[in-house]
Amino acid sequence: MVAALGLLTLLVAENDATAVGEEGRRSSNLLSENAEAEQAGQPIYRAKCAYCHGMKADGRGRGLPNAANLRKFKRGYTRFVKAVKEGYKTMPPWGGMGELTDEEINQVGAYLETLAKRNANWADPEELSDADGVSVDQVATNTVEPAAPKEYQIHIGHILDAWQDTPGQLGLATILEQEAAIASEHAAYAVADLEDWDVIRTHTAHVRHAIDPAREANGPGKGYGVVAAAEAIVQHMTFARDTADANESVKLHAKHVLASVANIHFWCSKILDKAAQISGGASPISSAFFAEEIVEHLTWIQHGRDADADGTISWGLGEGGLAQIRAHLSYIE
Ligand code: HEC
Repeated sequence: MVAALGLLTLLVAENDATAVGEEGRRSSNLLSENAEAEQAGQPIYRAKCAYCHGMKADGRGRGLPNAANLRKFKRGYTRFVKAVKEGYKTMPPWGGMGELTDEEINQVGAYLETLAKRNANWADPEELSDADGVSVDQVATNTVEPAAPKEYQIHIGHILDAWQDTPGQLGLATILEQEAAIASEHAAYAVADLEDWDVIRTHTAHVRHAIDPAREANGPGKGYGVVAAAEAIVQHMTFARDTADANESVKLHAKHVLASVANIHFWCSKILDKAAQISGGASPISSAFFAEEIVEHLTWIQHGRDADADGTISWGLGEGGLAQIRAHLSYIE
């Protein structure tokens, strides 16, 4: 039944390659107005395009300047696909984010049509009837050449804005923040009644899941884990630092970010250690003590720690946490 329906859609789409939607949209995309494709396109768009074109596709991302407003795209579908594959002016091929299959491009296209303004045009010019007579030449092109793309900004975008393997394609710092907040919440439940050993053990297992789902399969977290997010931040920060176009500020702050991520990684290992002792049958008194330490470590992961009690939290050994990572990423020019 499903297969038959799919075939039907395809046939209809082929017979009427320029679909005209309820709102008067036109498209040469075979997946145009296909609900499944629209849904599949959203996460791809967010992971691969939103960094420059913005979450709303209005051209206001944080990646390259002057990214096009894709809600007003008027140059026809063939040119859309060509722009994605071959790049367009300052946009590198594939937006510099790695290739997509033709189907994925069509899914992104279908999703973008759902955001498109009424007068957008996703049809190819030759397929347009004389109705509105839009020709490619009539569309104004951007004559100001924006600054050349910086490759390191793309890697930093994966930390701050979006990364493809995280739930919801969130940026790595965001998923780290969310998992740490969940762990923190459950660590607080664990110490709510330090005389109740079962409570401590149950909630500590939940903390463990949010820190590293590989250690504890089930729990209230997102299934990604603070540890995985920290490791991915190390990877992407290193990529950014080692790009040919990385300037001094990238190199300097990469060092600070990496030192702070190392702290987070270390605190995670301490938490997992204590959690293992609690679940492994530590005495009620030791369990209560470990549970309180877990709460404290989670605070450090999120906000950093004034380890040398000098009144400030630096990025350095034993001090920096997520807040310091965000600060130093914002200092990069
Ligand atoms: C690294 C930043 C970056 C990423 C990532 C990126 N783009 Fe672009 N894109 C740009 C910029 C900048 C322009 C405008 C280039 C110009 O006009 O000089 C542009 C232009 C375009 C255009 C041409 C618009 C027009 O008016 O013809 C299309 C289409 C497009 N992008 C689609 C995409 C899609 C789809 C993705 C995701 C698969 C994507 N881009 C990812 C930066 C990016």
